[in-house]
Amino acid sequence: MEYWVIVGEGGGFEEVKSVKSGSSGAQTGGINKTTVRADDVTFTMGGDGNAKVFLCGEEAAPPDVFMLWGHYNEVFEGISRRLTAMGARSINDIDAKRVVCSKLSTALVLEQAGIPQAKTMLVTHATPAAVVVKNVGLPAVLKPSDGAQGAGVVLLHTEEAIAQYLSDLPACDGRAVLAQEYVAAAKGKDIRVTMIDYQVANVIQRVADNPDEFRSNVHLGGHIRDYELDADTVRLCEKIARVVGLRLCGIDLLETGEGYVVGEVNCTPGMAPAFLKSEKFKQMMHSLITG
Ligand SMILES: Nc1ncnc2c1ncn2[C@@H]1O[C@H](COP(=O)(O)OP(=O)(O)O)[C@@H](O)[C@H]1O
Ligand SMILES: [Mg+2]
Repeated sequence: MEYWVIVGEGGGFEEVKSVKSGSSGAQTGGINKTTVRADDVTFTMGGDGNAKVFLCGEEAAPPDVFMLWGHYNEVFEGISRRLTAMGARSINDIDAKRVVCSKLSTALVLEQAGIPQAKTMLVTHATPAAVVVKNVGLPAVLKPSDGAQGAGVVLLHTEEAIAQYLSDLPACDGRAVLAQEYVAAAKGKDIRVTMIDYQVANVIQRVADNPDEFRSNVHLGGHIRDYELDADTVRLCEKIARVVGLRLCGIDLLETGEGYVVGEVNCTPGMAPAFLKSEKFKQMMHSLITG
């Protein structure tokens, strides 16, 4: 079985060699895995209807199954539609990926399903700071809807600071910014639940090492430790994975002191070696690709 992992922006493509210089391939349990950079995949469409796929300009047979690794973008969507139309199977549906790569769309979809979330508001440079304070309180978290790894996520303590932040936003550029109620009990901590085929595959807690840091992203300097979920929260995660429709995802939970709210859902969850080695995880990944 031919399996391609197509790595793009936000998926660590910088560490993947171009097909030109010999991409990494690995064979395990009947799966022939090829990791390629999104840049190396091109294809034709239209014309005589005989579509072709190319890896670095060389015609290639489409894989049986593929995974898009990184943030949603137009190129990923094209690759996904092209390969799917040729009979390849995508592990994560491209429309589901587009939704979770927008914190704005994710919040709306989860709200429809009655999933608990922090109060969130779409804001623009034209939003009065007083309205933000009235609706999400102080301090407030402001963040780009399409961000990752904690970049641009800020905690603002005063209405003046929010006013300044908002006035610096560009006009009508179509990039959503969200203001969110601060979950104080979760300061510097969150829980990452990795889901495979709508089941919990791994649970860790992420903890910021810097006591002044409210963001728990490992990229910003933090550590991970084991964590156990109660049965209700396991069911909550199963529901979230089904609602967003991703066979592989990472769900971030923030502890409020009275339960959990969903922080975000990630379609390219970090694969820490610590849990990659577990037999259960390996088996779940194997059936994800083959099933
Ligand atoms: N409303 C909030 N209350 C408390 N902590 C938050 C809140 N929003 C974000 N954080 C913290 O900041 C981190 C990064 O925010 P997140 O929304 O996950 O953006 P990113 O996609 O950049 O990771 C979270 O993992 C969490 O630790
Ligand atoms: Mg996050």
